Amino acid sequence: MNFEKSRELQRRLQKVIPGGSHTYAKGDDQWPELSPGVIERGAGCHVWDVDGNEFIEYGMGLRAVTLGHAYPDVVAAVRASLELGTNFTRPSRMELECAEAFLDIVRGAEMVKFTKDGSTATSAALKLARAYTGRSMVAICAEHPFFSYDDWFICTTTMDGGIPSETRAQTVRFNYNDIESVRALFDAHPQGIAAVFLEAARIEEPNAGFLQELQALCKKAGAVLIFDEMITGFRWGIGGAQQVYGVVPDLATFGKALANGFALSAVCGNRELMRLGSREREQDNVFLLSTTHGAETPGLAAALATMKVYREQPVIEHIYRQGERLKDGFRAAVARHGLGEHVQVMGRACNLLFATRGQQKEPSQAFRTLFLQETIRRGVLMPSLVLSYSHSDADVDRTLEAIDGALSVYARALISGPEEHLVGRPSRTVFDRW
Ligand SMILES: Cc1ncc(COP(=O)(O)O)c(C=O)c1O
Repeated sequence: MNFEKSRELQRRLQKVIPGGSHTYAKGDDQWPELSPGVIERGAGCHVWDVDGNEFIEYGMGLRAVTLGHAYPDVVAAVRASLELGTNFTRPSRMELECAEAFLDIVRGAEMVKFTKDGSTATSAALKLARAYTGRSMVAICAEHPFFSYDDWFICTTTMDGGIPSETRAQTVRFNYNDIESVRALFDAHPQGIAAVFLEAARIEEPNAGFLQELQALCKKAGAVLIFDEMITGFRWGIGGAQQVYGVVPDLATFGKALANGFALSAVCGNRELMRLGSREREQDNVFLLSTTHGAETPGLAAALATMKVYREQPVIEHIYRQGERLKDGFRAAVARHGLGEHVQVMGRACNLLFATRGQQKEPSQAFRTLFLQETIRRGVLMPSLVLSYSHSDADVDRTLEAIDGALSVYARALISGPEEHLVGRPSRTVFDRW
C-alpha cells in the first residue's frame, strides 16, 4: 500500500491545524505510521484514502455514522433541505418536526433542545442541573472516558492546561457499579453535588439494581441524574440505554448517531428541568443553547431521515447481529492463535472494543499499533469495532480474514518483539491517563 499523498497532506495539516485534525482521536499520533493519513470519501462502511486505497472501516466517524457513509436516504433529505434555505430569522418547520420525532422515540423525555456538538449538550445539561439545584459540583463516572471538551470534564484529564484551579475542585469522581462510592461523595459534600453524570453502560453492563439505586440516591440527595447517551443512543436500542435498562434519568444527552454523522446533538429530559431554559417563567435566567447554527436545517433534515430509517428498518437488530458475528469470529481467531491472554474483545455486540497486551500481558500500545498496522495492510481500519447498518456479511467475513492474518503477525511478535514488525513508533492515547 502506498500512502504518499497522505504523507504530503499530513505535513500540511500539521502546519496549519494544531494537532493536525479537528478531533484529537483522529490525529496522526493515534495511528501507526503505516496507515492512511487522510480520507477522500466514504460509501456505506467503505472508505477510500487520498492515495486511492480502499478500507472496510470500524471507526464510523467516532461512532456517529450508524447507517453508513453517504447513506442515500439521508443524503437525499439533506439535499432537498438545501434547496429551501438553511437558516432563518424565525424557527423553521423542521425544528418542530425534529423535536416531535425525537420525543416520540426517546419516550422518557418531555422536552428537547438541539445543538451541534455532544460537548455543548452535556455542558448544557450540567448548567440546567446547577441552576435547578443551586449547587455547583458534578460527580462523574471515573471509568467513562469522555463527557465534554469543556473545563468541568477536561480538568480531570492529563490535558488540563488553561483551566482555572477553582474549576477542578467542582468535579469529583465515583466508580461504575459501585453505589457506595456515590454515597461517599454525597456524604462528603452534603448539599454540594448538582449532578451525577454517567453513561448508563459502556464496556461493563450495570449490575442488577445499580442504575435504580443510583436514581434513588440522587433523588434523596436532591441531585440531578444525567445519562450521557452520546454513544448508547440509537445504538443500545432505538430509544437509548434508558429504554433498554428501564431507568429514565432527569436529563439525557444525545448526539453522534442521531443524524448519521451530520452535526446535531440534543439535551432532553423532564419538563420541570428543561423549562428553566424557557421564556415562560417569571425569572428566565438560564441561557440554554441559543446559538446561530443550533437549528440549521441540513442537520435537522439528516436527523429526521435517520430517525425514519431507524423506525422503519431493523437497524439496531442488524448492528447487534453483525456485532455478534464479529465478536465470535474474532474470539475464535484469538483462540486459534493461542492469544487469549493477549487480545481481548469486550463490550456489548453493538459497541465492541478490543484490548491488546504485550509479552508480560501488560496493556501495550506497541502491540495495539502493530495490530492496527497489520489489519490496515489487509484492508481494514479498526481502531475499535463500531458496526453500522451498512456492514454486510461479506464485509464482516473479509474483516475476520484480516484479523486472522494480523493475529499471526501478533503471535510472532510476542516471540521476537513488536519492534521487529512495527514500522515506526507506537501510537499514543489521547489522554495519557488512559
Ligand atoms: C460519551 C460521550 N459524551 C460526549 C462526547 C462529546 O461529543 P462531541 O465530540 O460531539 O462534542 C463524546 C464524544 O466522543 C462521547 O463519547
